[in-house]
Amino acid sequence: TKRIGILTAGGDAPGLNAAIRGFGKAAIQEHGWELIGFRDGMRGLAENRFTELDAGALSGILTTGGTMLGTSRDKVHRMMVDGEARDMIPTIVENYDKDQLDALVCLGGGGTAKNAKRLMDAGLNVIHLPKTIDNDIVHTDTSFGFATALEIATEAVDRLHSTAHSHHRIILTEIMGHRAGWLALGAGMAGGADVILLPEIPYSVEAIAEKIERRRSRGSSFSVVAVAEGALSVADHAELEHARALVKDASTPERKAMAKRGVKALEASHRANTFTLAEQLEAATGLEARVSILGYVQRGGSPCGADRMLGTRLGVAGASAIAEGRHGVMVADRGHGTDLVPLADVAGRTKFVPADHEWIQAARAVGTALGD
Ligand code: F6P
Repeated sequence: TKRIGILTAGGDAPGLNAAIRGFGKAAIQEHGWELIGFRDGMRGLAENRFTELDAGALSGILTTGGTMLGTSRDKVHRMMVDGEARDMIPTIVENYDKDQLDALVCLGGGGTAKNAKRLMDAGLNVIHLPKTIDNDIVHTDTSFGFATALEIATEAVDRLHSTAHSHHRIILTEIMGHRAGWLALGAGMAGGADVILLPEIPYSVEAIAEKIERRRSRGSSFSVVAVAEGALSVADHAELEHARALVKDASTPERKAMAKRGVKALEASHRANTFTLAEQLEAATGLEARVSILGYVQRGGSPCGADRMLGTRLGVAGASAIAEGRHGVMVADRGHGTDLVPLADVAGRTKFVPADHEWIQAARAVGTALGD
């Protein structure tokens, strides 16, 4: 028999519990293994806080939001302990041995893939299941959480039309996605937003105002703008790219750390972007502009059918992978099946929306402005 650990890390997303259940039920019932669940992501792993999971513990969670195990955004090699950043990898390796684990299953997004890779490099048998509402994990068609967030954000874009139309306003709705714009693009397209702004396509206020004016001249005195939280103006984008290049080119670890702080500061200063943009559009068009930030509503609550399915499928495929002796891989969703991708090909990479992606072409073809 085997003894397996499982944890959820990074931001919560709908479908995490479905994936825990999918993996867990297959592990316990089909393969006859023992399963323990670490609390609060990598932190619980470092502190060896876990609970034994049996089939009963996995009952009734398929439809629930959040994660039954709790989560955190800790990094294994730089975890804040007593006010200082510590490398907890050696402690985690000790715990893994002490708990007599044969494998560790990590459910999470890009940050988790990096942590999983670090643990793999330290000798642990790691399996990663892709979760994120941002849909920005490479080598997988999608990740659980995205489909549900898309439904929620689409409904929000729908509903904002009422107020925009009735009050002859511009309504900007900020949608999650700090690096990649999949969610804003999908919800903007599905909700019929007039303008969609993505981190991947720097925007000009003039181009957006022009679109809004064009609509007004045709009798539509309102507009709905879907803004990904990472969307940037041409000037801000150039500034951030420059700062990111400094990180890449830094010649010493100290310089790298300093450049990284520069990027963080810029990202933070761009947080208020959507509000600034609303003011700019109001000034440019003379229409009232309002902002609606969707925030954590997009990550909350029960997963939709597609995410329950995806979580279950990837969980079960993760158990099959371990049964076949595979590790150091992410379980990817590919077409109508699953695939195993080396963690080394996933960690540290982001799936951006390509400029010529079919969704972009379709959005443009139906007359949606993308701010460029
Ligand atoms: O990674 C998913 C995500 O939803 C991002 O789009 C967003 O920037 C981030 O999480 C915010 O989450 P938190 O406030 O929990 O760090």
